[in-house]
Amino acid sequence: VNLDSQDPAFEAGLEAWLSSLPNDVLSSFDEVIRRSPGYYPTTLRDGWSQRLKDLDLQPIPSRSELDGADLLPVGHPLDYDWRFTEETREFLLSQLNEATQPGELIVYLGTPTLFIAGSSALPERRHLLIDANHVMVEAARLRLGEDAAVVARIGVDEMPANVAAAACVLDPPWYPEDSLHFLAAASSMLGMRGAAFLSQPTTATRPGIETERVALGDALPSLGFRLDAVRPRVLRYVTPHFERMSLLGAEPALVAPNDWRSGDLLRLSKIDASGQGALPEMEHLEQWHEVSFGPVRIKLRDVGGEDLGLLEPNLDRLTTVSRRDPRRAEVGFWTSGNRVRALSHAGPLAELIAVCDAELRNMTFTHTTIANLAPTFSFDQSVAHALTEILLLEYQEHVAGGYGVIG
Ligand SMILES: C[S@@+](CC[C@H](N)C(=O)[O-])C[C@H]1O[C@@H](n2cnc3c(N)ncnc32)[C@H](O)[C@@H]1O
Repeated sequence: VNLDSQDPAFEAGLEAWLSSLPNDVLSSFDEVIRRSPGYYPTTLRDGWSQRLKDLDLQPIPSRSELDGADLLPVGHPLDYDWRFTEETREFLLSQLNEATQPGELIVYLGTPTLFIAGSSALPERRHLLIDANHVMVEAARLRLGEDAAVVARIGVDEMPANVAAAACVLDPPWYPEDSLHFLAAASSMLGMRGAAFLSQPTTATRPGIETERVALGDALPSLGFRLDAVRPRVLRYVTPHFERMSLLGAEPALVAPNDWRSGDLLRLSKIDASGQGALPEMEHLEQWHEVSFGPVRIKLRDVGGEDLGLLEPNLDRLTTVSRRDPRRAEVGFWTSGNRVRALSHAGPLAELIAVCDAELRNMTFTHTTIANLAPTFSFDQSVAHALTEILLLEYQEHVAGGYGVIG
């Protein structure tokens, strides 16, 4: 109960003060609270929300919301979310700056952090992000507005039509079929002589890269591209939380620098309007349901097996993050800390985790609460116990990894 608002004269004073503010100030709660003569924040927030509703005004996201989200959401292995280092973003933005003119459009395929940096560093250019990861697209929209970013799965969904970009940056998952689909999407959106900047694995990434690179080169003409230059190892990536956790699991004593992963940059030109070669199927785009527990992201699906049971004895998390790991097919529960489990009841578990998340936000998350709730979702006590242990461990690891902001 808000005691302030039970006093009609006080309430009328607040309303009068709010109506004295111009609309551009009123839309931002940050500005309103900065000018407030001393109203208690919750009282002010109530009056302010009502006033916005009366005037049909849209609120501007508050700085505290943006600061809280300044740290981007943690990456998940299923999104292949390897993010560029700051130096690499600056390097790529200088390349994009040179390749484009003011007013021209840059399309970012699977490069959300570069898109966020580019939108503020190159304000005279137009920017469009296309990415399958709705969590990162939401984070981009929070900073840059609704229209700048599109959630779409390249190789599966239709790409936006009538886009004539001057340049395009592509950072697909490092597998041949993904690269081909990303290139086909880029080709459909670039104007003639448009520049494409494509990230590819270095030869040291895994066996067979040389052969894959030759095949990619052979496919370029049918996609409408010419290869202009290859710059080996100029791209650098920050080790994502899930990979750090895998490394830690595999080799606790090994301390790798945070930017050990490098990539090659291929510069291409769009020279042929016709190009759309035959493309391999994108079979690996499985359907997952996502839930979160504070900063922890969890993807769920039904694969069978014991709920939250280990895939193999002692296999708490995958020790590699390769798509080629045959155990992936048995995973039904997969955290952003790379913990994997079997799962037969993804729907009820998602609901139970949503309750756990609400309890965490309330600071009332305990094992007893979950143990009492589990039967409602038809889970026995062993599942309640396993879930509590995983969530608490993951939460601590995410906080230690710098992902302490809840949601
Ligand atoms: C290797 S990460 C690149 C991130 C980039 N280095 C950055 O810092 O902005 C791959 C990105 O491609 C996205 N992605 C993967 N497969 C995709 C697909 N089929 N369609 C659209 N986006 C996809 C992922 O969500 C992820 O953001």
